[in-house]
Amino acid sequence: MTAGDIRVAVLHGPNINTLGRRPAAHYGTITLPDLEQQIRGWAAERGIRVGCFQTNDEGAFLSHLHGLSGLVDAAIVNPGAWTHYQWSIRDALEILGAPFVEVHLSDVEAREPHRKISVVREIAAKAIWGKGPEGYREALDAIPGLLQ
Ligand code: DQA
Repeated sequence: MTAGDIRVAVLHGPNINTLGRRPAAHYGTITLPDLEQQIRGWAAERGIRVGCFQTNDEGAFLSHLHGLSGLVDAAIVNPGAWTHYQWSIRDALEILGAPFVEVHLSDVEAREPHRKISVVREIAAKAIWGKGPEGYREALDAIPGLLQ
């Protein structure tokens, strides 16, 4: 599979739409539209096709994931707070049947104890945290290797 054939879903969970208003020490000042634009630019440079989606609604997130089966080769997922406790998201990612990279903007390992827990980590192909927007670039770079 050449990069130009790779289809990647970029999925954001709750509160990620408020980037720019969240504590800058953890999340910087970038907004979600700007982050998505940056991701689209990095993907275009690599010839990867991306589609971006964000919701604060768990049911909408699950339905969106169900609808992606067979339509994407990989995903980049920042489930926000769902990461730490929402098993239905873990199950839906398993149902997706495509490798995914778990990304967190902030350094979840260096924050409150509950943020060290990830219920999706055991099925993630890779996890990246604490690198801000750069984490998404790293995820895009990792994806071709995950599909070999
Ligand atoms: C986050 C980290 C989570 O703990 C938090 O609930 C978020 C964002 C991150 O990108 O660093 O909403 O996933």
